[in-house]
Amino acid sequence: MEALDIIQKYYPFDSALRQLLLHHSRQVALRALDIARRHPELGLDAAFLEQAAMVHDVGIFLCNAPGIGCHGPAPYLMHGPLGAALLRQEGLESLARVCERHTGTGLTALEIERRGLPLPVADLLPETLEEQVVCYADKFFSKSHPERVRTVEQTAASLEKFGPEGVAKFMGWAERFE
Ligand SMILES: [Fe+2]
Repeated sequence: MEALDIIQKYYPFDSALRQLLLHHSRQVALRALDIARRHPELGLDAAFLEQAAMVHDVGIFLCNAPGIGCHGPAPYLMHGPLGAALLRQEGLESLARVCERHTGTGLTALEIERRGLPLPVADLLPETLEEQVVCYADKFFSKSHPERVRTVEQTAASLEKFGPEGVAKFMGWAERFE
């Protein structure tokens, strides 16, 4: 099963949420592929990057975020792990990992516990380069303002809510990926 089949399976063809998900996922995919093109020395798997970017948010329909048309029962933060569970059901383990590791710049079990976040207490950090690039590229875009692209500075500011470590990690990625 390919990325677009997964979206087709869970998002009705003519739904506004599907349009928003596809728009956002394409923004992330194009940015990730641009990084791969500009940085051949990183040896990124472009085909995987594209698939991963297209499904990284596939869990949003199971979550509650009425502002973007999501009316599921789960807290929005759970969209990563829930999307990962859907992908694991299809046997897509490496795509599942991208889903569950893309919140902020990744979250540690300690942060999840300390901040009482509604997530399984586990280290959910992007590890492979492709996991890092999708997580990084995603941060430039907002589903509540799909027409906007943040600058590096604006994106760093948007991550302040995840603490100074998250901002520093993002800036490290910016040095490597821009
Ligand atoms: Fe996203």
